[in-house]
Amino acid sequence: MQIDIVKDYDILSKKAAQIISAQIIQKPNSVLGLATGSTPIGTYRELVRMCKEGIISFADVVTFNLDEYYGLDEDDPQSYHYFMREYLFKEIDIKDANAHILDGKAADVEAECRRYENCIKEAGGIDLQLLGIGQNGHIGFNEPGENFEALTHLVNLHPDTIRANARFFNSIDEVPTQAITMGIKTIMRAKKIVLLANGESKAEAIYQTLKGKITPRVPASVLQLHPDITVIIDEAAAVKL
Ligand code: PGA
Repeated sequence: MQIDIVKDYDILSKKAAQIISAQIIQKPNSVLGLATGSTPIGTYRELVRMCKEGIISFADVVTFNLDEYYGLDEDDPQSYHYFMREYLFKEIDIKDANAHILDGKAADVEAECRRYENCIKEAGGIDLQLLGIGQNGHIGFNEPGENFEALTHLVNLHPDTIRANARFFNSIDEVPTQAITMGIKTIMRAKKIVLLANGESKAEAIYQTLKGKITPRVPASVLQLHPDITVIIDEAAAVKL
């Protein structure tokens, strides 16, 4: 595990974008696992800049997003489909067919989860998975207390997560209570992982993840076992290390 503590969010975003762009240059048809939330926004801004400047191209890149709220239409401004379009996809040269996100409106959720797993397998597996982390140590929407065995599945969101994400909605009552997420096993199968965290609100989760016991009660702690992970955190997120 490589741990990189950087001064601020701007440097964190540039470092993450450098790793991702190097991956794309080394392998133009890379399969990337992508994350949503406020953490990766700066990374996507950098990738957009590099793409517009012709430093990298997403023309042959394939992406799979970690998760999507269950019940939200892809045109809903709170959906992760919408987020990805706004912050990344509409600004870069990725092919629509290559940008995969779980269908939050799927009538048959189990079939949708199987389809997603098969699609990742057919693409050759994820080369590089980008991750944020929840204040409760979740990755994707894998909440505390679940085992490490799950593949893509439907989850009930933890009240802490609903509270944390309410800031993106008009009221807490609008936050969906369920989501479909890649499982821990799906995430652990990625060849390389880049975990990002900034701000003091993530300090305890980062401490538990990097220095604590490996336990499903802190889902991200499983990452201690991954053979190729880079953790990039700012000084505020590193205060408890
Ligand atoms: P954030 O969310 O980037 O908005 O803090 C991270 C997460 O909950 O996984």
